Amino acid sequence: MVLTVRVPSEALAHDLTEGLFALGGSAVEEQADLLTTYIAEPHDPEGFVRSAADRLASLTGAKPELRWRWQADEDWLARWKEGLGPRRVGRRLMVTQPWNAVPEENDDLVIVIDPATAFGTGEHATTRGALAYLETAVRDGDRVLDVGTGSGILAIAAIRLGAGPVIAVESDPDAMANCRENLERNGVLDRVTLECGVVDANWLVADGQGFDVIAANVLSGVLIPLLPHFAVALRPGGRVILGGVLEHEADAMKVAAAATGLALADERVEGEWWTCLLSA
Ligand SMILES: C[S@@+](CC[C@H](N)C(=O)[O-])C[C@H]1O[C@@H](n2cnc3c(N)ncnc32)[C@H](O)[C@@H]1O
Repeated sequence: MVLTVRVPSEALAHDLTEGLFALGGSAVEEQADLLTTYIAEPHDPEGFVRSAADRLASLTGAKPELRWRWQADEDWLARWKEGLGPRRVGRRLMVTQPWNAVPEENDDLVIVIDPATAFGTGEHATTRGALAYLETAVRDGDRVLDVGTGSGILAIAAIRLGAGPVIAVESDPDAMANCRENLERNGVLDRVTLECGVVDANWLVADGQGFDVIAANVLSGVLIPLLPHFAVALRPGGRVILGGVLEHEADAMKVAAAATGLALADERVEGEWWTCLLSA
């Protein structure tokens, strides 16, 4: 089933995208004010769409306008995948797909991601913002935490940029298989500790070893309560990359960061998305 939702305001686009993934959507295509995804054939399509509308409404507080139609899985995914190609992000990183091989020239670092069910294909501005900051934040041997690894893209980039141990945590069990495949495809499976779980204050205390870099491309509602715990978990001179924040939420995020003693080292905006680099 191909499911399309109209985005009533830009501020709700991220939550609706996450909502479509949570409903089982495989990849979410953004076109103007429409988000489209493919859902494996539900037994009761009308009932599924009704409950999907309720879930999206409770996530966003707005009544979403949903449309659906039948289309073979392969057709939609194939069309979406055909439109993808290699993308340069930052100075050295290049993200591509398994069927679009790119030679690694000069000091380029090519990351190959199979765009499947997990978030993090390189097609979203939040992922690109976080990748670009990893280039400046990661130093040789750094201990890195990737909060909400999704496809594993940031963990792979961190290793390729010279990180030491990388701990990649994802709360969605459905993302695990795709993430593991991507880690393996990029030859970093043995250097990334992949964990299905939720990074929260308890998780950070239990880890107890501290991080040189924390990359968290999640929602602002998740980030604000985590920020003070990130600050405690950072090693001296550590850096934090925050993504998944809408531009109009940036001021609140800056206030929350300043209250923890983290300094704003840099910020960038792509589309409606704000990404920043903080330092201890
Ligand atoms: C926007 S995606 C980011 C994926 C990838 N890291 C990227 O940058 O493209 C956010 C992911 O974080 C996961 N997530 C959200 N909060 C989390 C938490 N507290 N701990 C672990 N995973 C979390 C979600 O399930 C989702 O897969």
